Amino acid sequence: MSNGAHEIIFRPGLEGVPVTHSAICDIDGLNGHLSYRGYSIEDLAAHSTFLETAYLLIWGELPTEEQLHDFEAEVQRHRRVSFRVRDMMKCFPATGHPMDALQSSAASLGLFYSRRAIDRPKYVYDAVIRLIAKIPTMVAAFQLIRKGQDPIQPRDDLAYSANFLYMLTEREPDPIAARIFDRCLILHAEHSLNASTFSARVTASTLTDPYAVVASAVGTLAGPLHGGANEDVLAMLEEISSPDQAAAYLKKAVENKQKIMGFGHREYRVKDPRASILQGLAEEMFARFGRDDMYDVATALEREASSLLAVKGIYPNVDFYSGLVYRKLGIPRDLFTPVFAISRVAGWLAHWREQLGANRIFRPSQIYTGKVTRAWCPVEERTLEMDA
Ligand code: ACO
Repeated sequence: MSNGAHEIIFRPGLEGVPVTHSAICDIDGLNGHLSYRGYSIEDLAAHSTFLETAYLLIWGELPTEEQLHDFEAEVQRHRRVSFRVRDMMKCFPATGHPMDALQSSAASLGLFYSRRAIDRPKYVYDAVIRLIAKIPTMVAAFQLIRKGQDPIQPRDDLAYSANFLYMLTEREPDPIAARIFDRCLILHAEHSLNASTFSARVTASTLTDPYAVVASAVGTLAGPLHGGANEDVLAMLEEISSPDQAAAYLKKAVENKQKIMGFGHREYRVKDPRASILQGLAEEMFARFGRDDMYDVATALEREASSLLAVKGIYPNVDFYSGLVYRKLGIPRDLFTPVFAISRVAGWLAHWREQLGANRIFRPSQIYTGKVTRAWCPVEERTLEMDA
């Protein structure tokens, strides 16, 4: 398409269009490789912790022992949320989606720390700490509030992931379960310019506060084509209900051009490496805490899809196996996406900092397809036919 002066190439969904330089995350979608700051996702999931990975993403290097200790201690110190935020959350409808509750409560932090001193390193550091520390507390608080209970306070003797599971389920988790959950958080922490991260960068580019940046990203993550797919996967597996129904379900879905939730990715033409690691984590959970019949349905569906969908480069993505792990951990289904947000806040904050480092406001163009040069018509002379 041409505007006379130069060629304009329109790519719906910005497919393949770079919108920034970034040194945070690299995806090789043809070979199924993912790395954060140069470290492979396999190494990070095996050896790191979520907080250490968050530090790496946000500050660019792995912390020393002392830096990690200080970071963990600061996050621990800021886990509590103000009674005003909790009281506000008590006014939310219990039937509302927890992602809407999270978006509202994340945005509300901007009311408490509203100075936009984003050029001051101390402000940036404090905002990073607060968001990483308080988002899990707010997710757990809404879960208890909607059951008619008061939120429970964080426990200082528990590490980040164990404390979240404790605040959510009111039980101290098994250490193996807590470690598996922590590894899930590592896997979801960052994934380059996905929709929610792009949303975060666009919001950041206006130089607004980081709480607005995270709130806009939470809203974007909620959609079923993005983070919200993890909820829909379990609903789909339950609808299929048994491994021998997987082939028929898939055939019908493909014939009807219906998307299979948890499959497909703009960046990958092979199985998402995070899906492979999550599948291993699901198996670890089942080995220790008992099987889930839906896992057999999931593996049957993946097997059937290897002939029907793989030809188009469509394989399981990060959302396909995560719900099975979360369910075994006792996490309610509509909290799967908020849990994703707890983790992805690390990536969003890394991109917030990177955007500020070389900022130019995002302001893409469009190709106008509406009507032109219309004559004004007074209201008493207008007819419906005129709109035709
Ligand atoms: N099931 C069946 N067919 C699919 C699927 C799927 N899950 N995903 C893509 N396709 C097909 C499309 O029908 C289309 O086929 P066509 O060319 O014959 O019309 C082709 O593959 C391209 O699909 P698009 O939707 O154009 O691919 P896009 O890159 O825009 O979308 C997306 C990627 C949104 C992830 C898509 O694969 C999808 O909707 N998947 C299901 C939802 C999901 O799992 N989302 C989570 C993604 S991971 C994350 O965001 C955390």
